[in-house]
Amino acid sequence: ASICLRDYRAPAWRVDTVELDFDLGIDASEVLARLHLRRDPAQDAPLRLDGENLQLLSIALDGTPLPATAYRYDGNALEVDGARDGSVLETRVRLRPAANTALEGLYLSGPRETGFLLTQCEAEGFRHITFFPDRPDVLSRYTVTLRADRTRFPVLLAGGNPDGAGALDGGRHWARFVDPHPKPSYLFAVVAGHLQVMERDYVTADDHAVQLKIWAEADAIDRCHYAMAALERAMRWDEQAYGRNYDLDVFHVVATHDFNMGAMENKGLNIFNAKCLLAAPDSTTDEEYRHVEAVVAHEYFHNWSGNRVTCRDWFQLSLKEGLTVFREQSFSADMNSAPLKRIEDVALLRRAQFPEDAGPLAHPVRPAQYSEINNFYTATVYEKGAELVRMLAGALGRDGFRRGMDRYFERNDGRAATLEDFLAALGGANGTDLTPYLAWYAQAGTPRLKAHGHYDAVRHTYTLTLAQYTPGGHGAEPRVPLPIPVKLALFTPQGDMLPLHLDGQTAKPDTERVVVLERAEQSFVFADVTTAPVPSLLRGFSAPVILECDYTPGELALLLAHDVDGFNRWEAGQQLAARAYEDLRDDTAGAALHAWCDALARLFDAAAIDDALLADLLTPPGEVELAERESAIDPQRIHHLRQALQQRLAARLGAAALRQRYAALAAHTTIELDAASQAQRRLKRRVLELLALLDRAGSGELATAQYREAPGMTDRLAALSVLVRSDAPQAAAALRDYRERHAGNALALDKWFAVQAQLPGERALDRVRRLERDAAFTLKNPNRVQSLLGAFVRNNPSGFHRVDGAGYRLLAERLVALDALNPQVAARLATAFNGWQRLEPLRREAAHAAIVELAGHHGLSRNLAEIIGSVLNR
Ligand code: ARG
Ligand code: ZN
Repeated sequence: ASICLRDYRAPAWRVDTVELDFDLGIDASEVLARLHLRRDPAQDAPLRLDGENLQLLSIALDGTPLPATAYRYDGNALEVDGARDGSVLETRVRLRPAANTALEGLYLSGPRETGFLLTQCEAEGFRHITFFPDRPDVLSRYTVTLRADRTRFPVLLAGGNPDGAGALDGGRHWARFVDPHPKPSYLFAVVAGHLQVMERDYVTADDHAVQLKIWAEADAIDRCHYAMAALERAMRWDEQAYGRNYDLDVFHVVATHDFNMGAMENKGLNIFNAKCLLAAPDSTTDEEYRHVEAVVAHEYFHNWSGNRVTCRDWFQLSLKEGLTVFREQSFSADMNSAPLKRIEDVALLRRAQFPEDAGPLAHPVRPAQYSEINNFYTATVYEKGAELVRMLAGALGRDGFRRGMDRYFERNDGRAATLEDFLAALGGANGTDLTPYLAWYAQAGTPRLKAHGHYDAVRHTYTLTLAQYTPGGHGAEPRVPLPIPVKLALFTPQGDMLPLHLDGQTAKPDTERVVVLERAEQSFVFADVTTAPVPSLLRGFSAPVILECDYTPGELALLLAHDVDGFNRWEAGQQLAARAYEDLRDDTAGAALHAWCDALARLFDAAAIDDALLADLLTPPGEVELAERESAIDPQRIHHLRQALQQRLAARLGAAALRQRYAALAAHTTIELDAASQAQRRLKRRVLELLALLDRAGSGELATAQYREAPGMTDRLAALSVLVRSDAPQAAAALRDYRERHAGNALALDKWFAVQAQLPGERALDRVRRLERDAAFTLKNPNRVQSLLGAFVRNNPSGFHRVDGAGYRLLAERLVALDALNPQVAARLATAFNGWQRLEPLRREAAHAAIVELAGHHGLSRNLAEIIGSVLNR
């Protein structure tokens, strides 16, 4: 049963206000719901409410208990006779939180005796809590009353403003919350149990006093300082960058170790996977710190892009997610290094979204249909969606985009909006028609952008011809030309930028400008070009496309040496590295290989470049990205070739120079989080990794010392990873030490599993099997599953893709077990089968057999069945 965008109909019944009374218990909780109903006079549909496997205890309409003949419940939907406009429906249901392993609806985090209760409702979890029109275009005012034993549940939280609390008989207590802002059911949340709090007073720019409260279990509360500071930064930033203020008296944030996703923006009560909230130098890496800051900001920004303005239906998911990711990216760029953030985001897009867009799971940013909406919280909806917003922002310019966003928030406040509403507001506020960009939302596949330059030495013109083509499409989606903004500059052979005189335009020439390709093919002529230039195209990655341009290795080396756009400089290096990789693979002349090594050797010695950027420049594209450029993929061969490529680079830099640089960097070891210290750690790791390819014994000693003396997790984990991956004799002792040292810290222990799951090559599978028997491993915790199985199938291509198919069979077997516990997590893990059709024949056969066998299992969840079906192209 698939749901289609074109079938959308406004709800026949709405709920103006709802009162929810919870009587909370670990094994059983009861929920009394009072719905004040509003009927759409234009529709004549019976009252039908969503409700998933609820145990109905009582039901009454307008104060009268209903006889069994007056309603029907089939386990998914409740139909009630006799409801009128203005009716009040009252239902009472019983839930079983401790038995809820799917972590959707009301569930228990942690052990029965000490854990706490919480909810996850997006996308369709609310129907696991009570009967309701569980769809995002039904906005209601919520009053929530919680009752529970005071000793077992000392803390009672719900979204909204506090509206009284007190004692009850029998050691029980209550607390009430009223949310003045109408919201869809997916933003509802409650939390109850033993939690500690960290508090801060905040005054918004529009002078509203807000209490910020971060809640965590006792052993975690002192790891919330960083998140609190990040939250304050995010709140200030949204006031300044978008004029958006917080709108309740209190803002709760809660950390849990049991969570299916990263975090959730419930109104006034954000809930976070602990790994996206907790941070401390001894257990958190620099990368994870940046991630915490980003996710805290992302969820906070949803308060406007998602909550105040929500989505009409789940096809519009990117309306809130793509926009909020873009807002987070801009925030992170302002808080940290902007080019590094851009590099990180584009690398993620290429690693996660491009493969998705190229395989059987490809879907448009606004999908046309789905069977299970939870399968569409994808890199395409999030990351590609953010790229689309970035293009719109670029097209309008800084002030124009702000004007458009002001109008979007103003016109749609309190509404459930569509992508059309978004484009209309952005365009309308600027007198521009942005509807051509809708095509980007409607078709899947990564567009190819072909660029060809021609220099006329007589007329001093440079003609840039751009052409576009989007592969895939399965015949179902129309393929229309997309507007593709190409930000560009022209470089002289000496590395200087030329002023750009675009033919027929008189504006003062700039050295950088944007041309927009609007048709299948178009040429742009630049005048007064005094020398044959090297174009720097798609600067800052101005559109999410694959650029095909016939650069020579020398031209790429020029851009790598001179481009002032930090992103494009890195990009030139990546392109050159990919060509160097092909030199090795095809055993060809090696011009690119030499150019790449020479250019990096010069940069390495010059030391006039930021340490972190240098570390990134010294890193060739990853194995997944290299695989994207091939057919008949052999992931183990790619791994070996990429290792060989890095070895050539290491040899060119020289063991002595690497050792010297390492020593210089290690002499300044600190635990500070400022940009320079992070950059130093990043480069130090890269240098050590390169050294390990030349001198295993020497690097083993350095890594062992670094492991032992590391003041924080970044240095410790880097050293551990080098030891494990290079199979150093000291690896076992370091792993034992780490295990003991971090035994009580689940997030640190996750990294212990993940490092080993990424052991390259054939040995990985046995290690994974052994770790599965570790007392600390469980399929019930999503983070633990991700750290072992996720890291193995997703981040370790040469380990997972064994030619004997054992990796595929292991995944298929675990998916069956996992699916019975948690369908969302199983379905996400199953996407590792995505690229199987493009594997070389032996692996393709083995993968196919494992997937077919899995598909034949009875009783697979809708989540997993949809992914497996799509992967098999059914
Ligand atoms: N809206 C959340 C975010 O901030 C994601 C939650 C999705 N949860 C789910 N089970 N699909 O991105
Ligand atoms: Zn989000």
